[in-house]
Amino acid sequence: MTIHELQQEILRLKRETDTCILAHSYQAREILEVADVCGDSFTLALAAVQQPHRNMLMCGVHFMAESVKLLAPEKTVRLANPLAGCPMAEQMDKDIISAVKQSLPDYTVVAYINTTASLKTVCDVCVTSSSAVQIVQRIDNPNILFIPDKNLGAWVADQCPEKNIKLLEGGCPIHAAVTVADVQAARAANPEALLLVHPECVPSVVALADYVGSTTGIMQYAKQSAAREFIIGTEATIAEHLQYDCPDKRFFALGTKLVCPNMKLTTLPDVLLALRGEGGTVIDMDDEMIASARKCVDKMIELGG
Ligand code: 13P
Ligand code: SF4
Repeated sequence: MTIHELQQEILRLKRETDTCILAHSYQAREILEVADVCGDSFTLALAAVQQPHRNMLMCGVHFMAESVKLLAPEKTVRLANPLAGCPMAEQMDKDIISAVKQSLPDYTVVAYINTTASLKTVCDVCVTSSSAVQIVQRIDNPNILFIPDKNLGAWVADQCPEKNIKLLEGGCPIHAAVTVADVQAARAANPEALLLVHPECVPSVVALADYVGSTTGIMQYAKQSAAREFIIGTEATIAEHLQYDCPDKRFFALGTKLVCPNMKLTTLPDVLLALRGEGGTVIDMDDEMIASARKCVDKMIELGG
């Protein structure tokens, strides 16, 4: 089948099976073209409660599909490629954080949504990169344990000087690999360009940015800005999407390291097989896990929605 034929069959099958296709913005363009909802992890989590479909198909990584299941347990939720995980989400587990909590009894535990459902059962509230600052500001407690991403946590701490924020050693291996030398090289090659950076990058890189924000924040900023050239400090696909969306502007990737192999796993044939019920993986969680893990996702929507 050609790409066009695959897409036509996917569009037909998603209508026939009452399936909503959710695609994270890091997915390839041909997948965004067949999706019902595209966006950052906050937008995709909200879609779980806003979309009427019986079935949800996530083109993204495992924790994103889990978040949809937590918010819409009555729906069948599939992850299009069963191998698509997020290394950051696997860095800390429930036992590690339960032990840390014992030594910090007065702290509110704020978990980046890039965590497993099992870990969420011992956390108080979730955040995404687009909602983290607002949610932390709205928490009544000055003492915050922010997990797992120490770079996102440091950026939040910077915006919330009134809070006492403790961080642990965790983060996105893709974003954290970008260095100040990568920024200097990109700036030297494109001296007119603004630098837009995701807060998962290390603080020394974030400090050099003209704008810091989530995937959606970066895309909106670039589209609305009067500037003509941008260096994109997040997954390389975002620079490609922006170049299609704004052909009169120029977008440059920040170096060559910003490629998330997990986000690249999902293909159109994966989507087709998942819609036929022959591929993907169904997210299965018992009622106890759902009840206990969804509290912190509900709290995220209450404080950040
Ligand atoms: P967003 O919250 O910006 O969608 O980021 C998700 C992610 O995995 C970034 O690496
Ligand atoms: Fe996880 Fe980083 Fe990939 Fe995002 S870019 S899915 S945080 S590994």
